[in-house]
Amino acid sequence: MTRFYATTPIYYVNAEPHLGHAYTTIIGDAITRWHRLLGDDVKYLTGTDEHGLKIQQAADAANMGPQEFTDSIAPKFAEAWTRLNIANDDFIRTTEPRHKAAVTELLQRCYDAGDIELDTFAGKYCVPCEEYYTDDELGEGDLCPIHQRQVEYFEEENYFFRLSRFEDRLLDWYSKRPNAMIPEHRGNEVLGLIKSGLRDFSISRTSLEWGIPLPWDSKHVTYVWFDALTNYLSAVGFGDGTDEYKKWWPVDYHLIGKDIVRQHCVYWPAMLMSAGVELPKQWAIGGWLLSGGEKMSKTSGNVVNPLDLIDDIGLDGFRYYVLAETPYGSDGDFTYEGLVGRYNSDLANNLGNLMARVATVVGKMCDGIGTAPAGDSPLAEAAATAFAETAAQWGIAQPSRALEATWQLIRATNAHLETNEPWKSEPGPDVDAVMGDALEALRIVAILASPAMPETSQAIWERIGMTGNVIDQRLPAAAAWGQYAPGSTVIKGDALFPRIKL
Ligand code: ME8
Ligand code: MG
Repeated sequence: MTRFYATTPIYYVNAEPHLGHAYTTIIGDAITRWHRLLGDDVKYLTGTDEHGLKIQQAADAANMGPQEFTDSIAPKFAEAWTRLNIANDDFIRTTEPRHKAAVTELLQRCYDAGDIELDTFAGKYCVPCEEYYTDDELGEGDLCPIHQRQVEYFEEENYFFRLSRFEDRLLDWYSKRPNAMIPEHRGNEVLGLIKSGLRDFSISRTSLEWGIPLPWDSKHVTYVWFDALTNYLSAVGFGDGTDEYKKWWPVDYHLIGKDIVRQHCVYWPAMLMSAGVELPKQWAIGGWLLSGGEKMSKTSGNVVNPLDLIDDIGLDGFRYYVLAETPYGSDGDFTYEGLVGRYNSDLANNLGNLMARVATVVGKMCDGIGTAPAGDSPLAEAAATAFAETAAQWGIAQPSRALEATWQLIRATNAHLETNEPWKSEPGPDVDAVMGDALEALRIVAILASPAMPETSQAIWERIGMTGNVIDQRLPAAAAWGQYAPGSTVIKGDALFPRIKL
């Protein structure tokens, strides 16, 4: 069995989950659900990033100890993911013992390799980024390029990771793996970053206590990014004294936003090289959801709560929007009008309308009993094309294009009905054949759409009279034309996606 391990960033617990976090988590959920349909042995990991200055400051502001503070926020992420129907297999918190063990092990390996050394550092630091910047990276007035707020001057005796030694090795490694970072334009940005020269980065702090102590010098705690990145290994058992982690490592996909490519695609592979651990297979790099032209973030104060949106538009309507609206890798503008517009066009008018039509006509013309698809249906080819393209796009982490391919089959089926107008015919073999084709197309659509909309797909599956669970179907076999079970009872039910008025 193929194994498939995918991760989201672990989110900072200085704030509650917002639409930006939901964005990456839903995309990872859909991609891993697709791999479950393929029969892969899947592990989908998410979690929370709980150490460092930013969290310490948030805890201070809330008048709480840092542990108590993170204990109060981390469950809000877990609860949000439950409500968004995220099928993560694990949830890692960086305050867990298994994580501390892994960080200790990784640090020690890099230290033993001679890539961590003591030095003094002075520089300008952005606390929301937990990152030092050079003058030429900062905007006028020392503004952080990501947060547009003033950086702070820090001077510390720190341990440094000798990143500068890895420039050639990283370029060499990436040059042999042109698809390691997708989409390509995002990967090119990273290569540019490496080529512009790599600076050593500090991996410890003495001015802070909220972190994991260095194993060889406990006056220092580990820099939050070194700590956080290691979560991907902690969750699969690295540092437990065995090689069991190799069942899952190297990871198949790190899903990340473009704000954290430097840490994920430069620091992280260098750390792994130093420690003698295999590098990730792929990074899938997403753009930002913008609101009013700016990155949605706690720091910008323009966040939207995803749970409010599902109250308005339904869980699957929301998931569909997140997945379908923007090609992965590009920025997308979030607007409420855009959300409702896409819902009405793709869900209410297309998929919802198809389901309602099929159930109505089968009810009137076929006594509510599903009929057999024709072997030589014109829709058979549309279904085969839709499946091939849907699979190809999920395979390169492009949910919007995968759904577009699936929706081609929905459109072809609606068009097939409009051409044949079974509602105007007399009941009989011709109507039976057209409706059998439409039912079969709906069966395939339910499977192909299930990574995006698990509940709706199950509802369609049941309404057309299929038994069992749509998510238990296995591709590619289940996508082959002609498997609809004639004689099943077809149920009309309420509208899947009632139209929403703005
Ligand atoms: O960076 N649009 O955590 P974080 C799209 N703890 N994606 C967004 C987004 C937006 N407006 N806002 C956030 C951290 N994201 C570190 C990560 S990993 C070892 C440590 C998503 O809470 C996107 O995936 O700031 C981004 O990379 C991530 O949340 C950053 O979350
Ligand atoms: Mg951030």
